[in-house]
Amino acid sequence: MEKILVVDDAELNRELLYDILKDDYMIEMAADGAEALEKLRKYRAEISALLLDLRMPKLDGFAVIEEMRQNDWIKHIPVLIISSEHAIEIENRCFHLGVSDFIHKPFESSIVINRVKNAIELFACKNQLEQTVAEQAMTLKKQDQIIQMQAEQLRDARSFKHLMMEYSSAILEVETKLKVLNAEFSQVYNRNPFEAIKSRLKSPESIYEKLERKGYPITLDSIRENLADVAGLRVICSFPDDIYRLAELFIKQDDILLVRQKDYIKNPKLNGYRSLHLILDVPIFLSNGKKYMKVEVQFRTIAMDFWASLEHKLKYKKAVGNTDEIVRQLRMCADSIEELDQQMQELRDQIDLSRE
Ligand code: GTP
Ligand code: MG
Repeated sequence: MEKILVVDDAELNRELLYDILKDDYMIEMAADGAEALEKLRKYRAEISALLLDLRMPKLDGFAVIEEMRQNDWIKHIPVLIISSEHAIEIENRCFHLGVSDFIHKPFESSIVINRVKNAIELFACKNQLEQTVAEQAMTLKKQDQIIQMQAEQLRDARSFKHLMMEYSSAILEVETKLKVLNAEFSQVYNRNPFEAIKSRLKSPESIYEKLERKGYPITLDSIRENLADVAGLRVICSFPDDIYRLAELFIKQDDILLVRQKDYIKNPKLNGYRSLHLILDVPIFLSNGKKYMKVEVQFRTIAMDFWASLEHKLKYKKAVGNTDEIVRQLRMCADSIEELDQQMQELRDQIDLSRE
């Protein structure tokens, strides 16, 4: 049963209203404004309507309305004024302050019941509507946030794709330059300086993993600044001296900038790894102008490549047993390969000489 609060200093009025409403509502009573506010503070959440006299000792009805306005209670509890007169001015003032309706004395029970019922139903409807609107506003806000997040991700994804396109273009540029050198070489020296070119774009997963492992920020600028091997090429040559000749011709090209060189052929790694690494700044030409991209080019002989592929497998297979022995044998193989590369080169020179 819904609870209503009847506030009137005249006991007779309270009792009359009690009799009229007791079958439909639980009734709280207050004899003045102060008591009314006390009960409102206590039972506010349970009270469905307030029947309020205006003229009362201590605190009058207007003071109660004022307090209810300040606490915003008037928006949630309908107030019906109990009055014995029809003073238009006072009624207008009350409506203006947020009062819902009037119950005039003498009380006509069916009118009282209907006015109270209507006021409660109207407020329930209004509150329901307000709640629905608030929920919808919240849903809209959430959807808005989701759309914004998706837009950001899409923008990031687009920029990332664009950056990868730029690195791919840089790979194409280097490949073309190498192919041009190859064509010229084969005309002038009657042989090809390299057997094959392999290229690869670092995967998004590897890019992310490397940035994180090295403690760099995960941003597009950070990729450009901190990673030199997003665009990678491997040039497989037949002979060691081709590696140096090719690398030199390449670096000499006036649009290529050498950022760094690591010569693991003259200074092999302890494990036996040999290759010549160049980090280059390579220009690409896009619709909005020229842009330099970092590219890593590894030069190796066929034999060095053969060795590196096998050794690479060892690194990624953590569960390989007898690792020390494999490492030792790989070192030995690397030494043999160096010898073999030298021998093959000398043989080539002898063959070339005898042909001239
Ligand atoms: P990364 O962080 O791995 O790129 O190494 P780095 O920045 O110190 O550059 P470095 O020039 O030493 O190595 C670059 C690349 O050369 C590696 O990503 C490998 O592809 C290759 N490489 C370098 N050292 C070895 C090695 O010991 N074994 C094999 N198989 N490959 C190697
Ligand atoms: Mg690398």
